[in-house]
Amino acid sequence: MQNGLRQSPDHDSKDHAVKLTLNQVNFFYGDRQALFKIDVEIIKNQVTSFIGPSGCGKSTLLRCLNRLNDLVEGVRLEGTMLLDGIDIYGPNVDITDLRKRVGMVFQKSNPFPKSIYENVAYGPRLHGIRNRGRLDQIVEEGLIGAGLWEEVKDRLQASAFGLSGGQQQRLCIARALAVKPDVLLMDEPCSALDPVQYAAGGAGVRLDGIHVPWRNSGVWSHKADIYHDFQEADR
Ligand SMILES: Nc1ncnc2c1ncn2[C@@H]1O[C@H](COP(=O)(O)OP(=O)(O)OP(=O)(O)O)[C@@H](O)[C@H]1O
Ligand SMILES: [Mg+2]
Repeated sequence: MQNGLRQSPDHDSKDHAVKLTLNQVNFFYGDRQALFKIDVEIIKNQVTSFIGPSGCGKSTLLRCLNRLNDLVEGVRLEGTMLLDGIDIYGPNVDITDLRKRVGMVFQKSNPFPKSIYENVAYGPRLHGIRNRGRLDQIVEEGLIGAGLWEEVKDRLQASAFGLSGGQQQRLCIARALAVKPDVLLMDEPCSALDPVQYAAGGAGVRLDGIHVPWRNSGVWSHKADIYHDFQEADR
């Protein structure tokens, strides 16, 4: 991915604080460079989209933001990535804490081999929430936010694998929302949803006609051809 990123025109939010700052970021898989001199500021409380063709580095860039690329052998990052002014790759960063603050929905849905309920409750449980009533509420809010509640409210204890592909993707969105991350990275989150109506706004994200009640920072990636859908949505 080459530098050349434009901010979306949606800059009318009252809060223009910068959430993430990328400064001269280069990224290498071994000898092969995937990101080239990326400079970008991600504004708080807004949705930012990276749009580009297959293989241009969208997923690579998103994975750098919550250090998932640390798990790949032989990789190297140059430049700086700051979250609220703190270096994401600094020596004192707690990676578990970072990933709670910077959540991610992947290109391919990846539900856990658990019930629908337990998929959404998993993160909040991990972070110490035990009260059943509170968990029930978080699960319901997450599923409503991802537009799945009506389809699954009568079978919350059923396996997540019994859901359709698009439902599994929305379950993963509900799971990401449940821990209330500061930043939500969405790597082509609509790839399993149809027919897609994309629209992004400061108050949230609408995808496939559903509304993700997103009030913080969202970073999305899309294939280049989706740009036409955005233009249609803007009309
Ligand atoms: N684990 C890896 N090891 C080596 N090279 C990789 C690895 N992951 C990605 N790459 C390479 O880095 C480049 C960018 O890949 P990336 O997955 O970030 O692209 P993308 O823009 O997300 O593409 P798509 O739209 O197909 O998802 C590609 O050339 C890819 O082959
Ligand atoms: Mg990708």
